[in-house]
Amino acid sequence: MNLAILASGAGSNTLNIIRHFESSPDVKIVLIASNKKDAGVFNIATDHGIGTFILTKENFLQSEEFLWVLKKASVDFVILAGFLWKVPVSLVHAYNQRIINIHPALLPKYGGKGMYGHLVHEAVFLNKEKETGITIHYVNEHYDEGTVIFQSSVLLNDDDTPSTIEKKVRELEMKYLPAVIEKEIRELGANS
Ligand code: GAR
Repeated sequence: MNLAILASGAGSNTLNIIRHFESSPDVKIVLIASNKKDAGVFNIATDHGIGTFILTKENFLQSEEFLWVLKKASVDFVILAGFLWKVPVSLVHAYNQRIINIHPALLPKYGGKGMYGHLVHEAVFLNKEKETGITIHYVNEHYDEGTVIFQSSVLLNDDDTPSTIEKKVRELEMKYLPAVIEKEIRELGANS
């Protein structure tokens, strides 16, 4: 089973996924792609000998070039680990129920365009939420609306700030994302 990871940021989830599958005999991270030339994930990819690809509006959104890159690398599953662009419909259809996103909130709350990273945690803080969490879901044509695979929540208290909220959410991401990915791809392998 070959995985590609798409990420726009520092890459802590990407690194965690790489480490999880490092000694797996049958799951391989074959490609890391980002829309940011200087994204931290490129250093992580180089350190681990994983191929990289820089996404542009042209090769990702306005043509099917990236789809061909995925096919050429025999990618079975795509993971969005902090990826901020909307996935084009052609890619969603080509990888139907094979693209997984991690979102740092309990969807459907705090999802949709513009809701990412620290902005989510600031909104949760301003609304004085009593809990937040993570959602791992399949990607469809709409931002943050695909079938939910897994959610986990954490309680918040009056002392929490956006940065402590982020820390709590990241702990959940580190704890659960790789195992949830593994469970999904193993089920897919068993059913195909
Ligand atoms: C993660 O918290 C992830 O849940 C979030 O971006 C962060 C990426 O961090 N994703 C979104 O907000 C998607 N809408 P990382 O680059 O350190 O993994």
